[in-house]
Amino acid sequence: MIEQVEFYNRRQAVLAQMVDNSVAIIEAGQEQTRSNDTEYPFRQNSDFWYLTGFNEPDAYLVLIKKADIAEAWVFCRAKDKLAEIWNGRRMGPELAQAELAVDKTFAVAEFNQHILPVLDGCHAVYWPHGQNKLEKTVLALVQDIRSKGKLGCPPYQFNDLSRIVHEMRLFKSATEIEIMQQAADISANAHKRAMSFSQAGKYEYQLEAEIQHEFAMNGARFVAYNSIVAGGDNANILHYTENSDRLKDGDLVLIDAGCELQGYAADITRTFPVNGKFSPAQKAVYQIVLDAQLESMKLLLPGNTLKQATDRAVEVITQGLIDLGILHGSLEDNIQAQEGQAPAYRQFFMHGLGHWLGLDVHDVGQYKVDQQDRQLQKGMALTVEPGIYISIDADVPDKYKGIGIRIEDNIVITESGHKVLTTLAPKSIEDIEAWMQG
Ligand code: GLY
Ligand code: MN
Ligand code: MN
Repeated sequence: MIEQVEFYNRRQAVLAQMVDNSVAIIEAGQEQTRSNDTEYPFRQNSDFWYLTGFNEPDAYLVLIKKADIAEAWVFCRAKDKLAEIWNGRRMGPELAQAELAVDKTFAVAEFNQHILPVLDGCHAVYWPHGQNKLEKTVLALVQDIRSKGKLGCPPYQFNDLSRIVHEMRLFKSATEIEIMQQAADISANAHKRAMSFSQAGKYEYQLEAEIQHEFAMNGARFVAYNSIVAGGDNANILHYTENSDRLKDGDLVLIDAGCELQGYAADITRTFPVNGKFSPAQKAVYQIVLDAQLESMKLLLPGNTLKQATDRAVEVITQGLIDLGILHGSLEDNIQAQEGQAPAYRQFFMHGLGHWLGLDVHDVGQYKVDQQDRQLQKGMALTVEPGIYISIDADVPDKYKGIGIRIEDNIVITESGHKVLTTLAPKSIEDIEAWMQG
């Protein structure tokens, strides 16, 4: 669990990077309507969570850096007996001050009243840009100060807080890695459970239910993203989440599912035979994807780039597809773009090798620095997820049609290499078959 002191230290680190005489404003997430008067389960805004560990909607965190003060204030929903009887408990400003270890707390209804005097006279105001509602709120506050004419002193630098907070979020602390390891273990066991349960005639959503069961029974109530359970050709739809078809004997099923634990995501994909036994054609394609993953992973080390590993995966996949007679011509011809067209291999591997992983499944953090691919460094967490997708309409030998395979693991870069977090989920052909038949 992330302790209060870690949230406190993160806020201090943000304050240290803010310019003198400035204020930062971060808004909590909002309840989202599902239909009429029912809501989706509440999910906190990741930046707000990262800096507070406070899981209520309708709140603001304000960081203030002036000559003699560096303070954190929280605005949250006031206690309200009737509202709490109907809709659930609220921490309330009084308790929040100690619970969140901040300097001051107020009712959110008093936000304007307290924030205006703080903003007035500041040089800079920070907020995570691109969050439309907050942007409007901040600019309206600044306009209020401007409208005071000679009596107001409005801020004149508008800075993106994301540059500071997202760079911090990219590097995971030991505690964050521990939680991500737990999320990975729970998710890997869920994949094993789905493998055991798999049978022709079952519905895709029934495998999804097994996965959700394993998550919840192990402390993770929510998925980090909607699970993909894709039998046969459905695996060739990259973000297939209908999960409504029956599984067929002889098909593969691709499951991309990960739980969310204390806000942190796991993101695992395994592809396995519905009946527990790979056909020779399925084996051949599967082994290429696995080789591509293992080969590219060797390059995911401090000092190297994700691009280097991606290029290696592309080489292995492309050569493999040439060897199977799915692609034709030289390795180079299939990897290079030809006359403004996408490279040939992209018909079958059309997404990237991986992405940052953390509080968001596609986590924040720049992939390039000054337009150069950034070097991997200790503490960065990412996925490694090559795939080969051959739709039933593809112009390839019949035995390969309708095969879609992705293998996705989660890693953290260490001092001298990386640690794989998702080793509990069987991955080699032998291990998957042994687990499913065992
Ligand atoms: N599950 C989304 C992804 O793999 O990127
Ligand atoms: Mn995934
Ligand atoms: Mn992923």
